[in-house]
Amino acid sequence: MVGRGILGCFILFLSLASVSAIKGTLSSIKDLKGIEFGHTSPRQGLMLLHWLANNIHIDSNGNMRLNFNPTRRDYGIHLYRNADNPRPLPVLPPQHGSYYSLGNLVPNNNNNDGAMALPNYVTQSFYNSREPESNRDRVVLRVREEGSNQFIVDEVYVTQHYPPNGNTGTGYDPDNTYLVSFNLLTQIQRLATIDRNDIPRIYNVEINHNSLQELENIWGHTPGLALLLAIVLSFTCPNFLIKKQAFHETTQSTLKYEDNKLIKLEVKTTDRGKARIIWSGIPKRLLDQGVMVVLHRNNNSDSKSELDRSSVGGEASGSYNTSVPLNPGLQVRLHKEVKTGWNYLGFRSTIGEEIWRGSEFHDANREIPVDIIGYGASLQLFVKDGKACARLYVKKSFTVWRKTFNNSWVGFYSSEGTLDHKTWQWAVKFSKESRSDWADIPGYDVFVYESSMTMSPGVQARFMLEKSGGEKARTPPWERLVQGFIMGWRPL
Ligand SMILES: *[C@@H]1O[C@H](CO)[C@@H](O)[C@H](O)[C@H]1NC(C)=O
Ligand SMILES: *[C@@H]1O[C@H](CO)[C@@H](O)[C@H](O)[C@H]1NC(C)=O
Ligand SMILES: *[C@@H]1O[C@H](CO)[C@@H](O)[C@H](O)[C@H]1NC(C)=O
Repeated sequence: MVGRGILGCFILFLSLASVSAIKGTLSSIKDLKGIEFGHTSPRQGLMLLHWLANNIHIDSNGNMRLNFNPTRRDYGIHLYRNADNPRPLPVLPPQHGSYYSLGNLVPNNNNNDGAMALPNYVTQSFYNSREPESNRDRVVLRVREEGSNQFIVDEVYVTQHYPPNGNTGTGYDPDNTYLVSFNLLTQIQRLATIDRNDIPRIYNVEINHNSLQELENIWGHTPGLALLLAIVLSFTCPNFLIKKQAFHETTQSTLKYEDNKLIKLEVKTTDRGKARIIWSGIPKRLLDQGVMVVLHRNNNSDSKSELDRSSVGGEASGSYNTSVPLNPGLQVRLHKEVKTGWNYLGFRSTIGEEIWRGSEFHDANREIPVDIIGYGASLQLFVKDGKACARLYVKKSFTVWRKTFNNSWVGFYSSEGTLDHKTWQWAVKFSKESRSDWADIPGYDVFVYESSMTMSPGVQARFMLEKSGGEKARTPPWERLVQGFIMGWRPL
């Protein structure tokens, strides 16, 4: 399905890469131009690298600290044993840390679905793509744990799986594995705030301003991303993104890229714990034909098993409060509306062709647990059947936790910050999580409490060490944007 022009670009890249002096290490943004990683849509590599760079904290000594916990499998990151044949990465003595792989977007048995907590801009194209090309890119980190819950990143690599359907195996391809320098990560971080007129001077690259404008329309809400894509992609493969921005196959014929790029479909929370559908950017041409938003349990549910639906009623953007209790995984799909006739209520319509899919519902930035300061444990807020729930992740090495937390409790707080006195629980009374996909977080036991409090925007869970206080952790409020939380260092 790769167009000729793109293929041409590909071949050019490969030959450039093989003669290039930088083969092996990418030391500036410019070097990303010459490699295959992330270059064909719907490959997610550049978004992934951008996300990672913005979730690494570089201190004044040049130490890189991770903003999340790989041993807890945050964002679906998992241990990578470097046992592929041929071996893509240098052999690592145990005292030098471990490799972790980030970016597998396909949930499977060995890999919980935490990757879906990655933000929309990383996962979106993957929900709408039917191409085997997707989901090949990975970022691999060499990580050491230092002290309690401090994760030092010593090396970052970009790599990719061999192409599907080939006879080259399923491992990572060493010929497309590169070390990412500290400098490159810093450059990506700075794109969020840089004056774009300085870019040619500082990075010695030109930007195609028309492409940048196009890209800003799509990725503008993620600071620095459009700029990264413009620098890396726009000259080497003009129109790359423009032509194939991860369309749903059936829609390629009916939708133009220009129509599709702004469509946004989201699930949010009503103040009654129900799913709220939000849509925006629906082009007029589609509105004129009639379209509807349809709620599904998740990306895997087939088109007949809808939970709720609503016509968008000619509104390019709007919302619809469903009566479906909120659960992780819910997904909105945009369908054509086929009018089948009239009844006394008005139009009768059925669901036509699918046009576009939103990401599955995961309140990404709230789903990552917050540390219980000073202890080998962390607290996570989540939703189940519309109710506020909490998980405790307790490190296996924290063997005395029941004694230490004997008088500790978790309380659920409303958006006004008041404790709902009916909904709190002793930490030691949480029950062991039985979901099988948690079973293989090797270093942790996971405990869960499902409260009777209705989830709504602003709800928070807090961990209190003693009967009468001693707050040690507080989750970010549900569905509220916390400054500095989305990108960069998590405030505590
Ligand atoms: C979503 O579903 C489509 C169609 O079944 C599939 O091709 C795609 O890989 C799925 N994406 C994810 C992230 O599961
Ligand atoms: C839908 O839910 C939102 C959030 O709870 C609320 O502000 C809004 O008034 C609701 N709309 C309707 C029509 O009930
Ligand atoms: C804490 O320990 C005491 C004495 O061992 C026990 O009576 C009490 O029930 C414990 N508290 C909780 C919440 O289990």
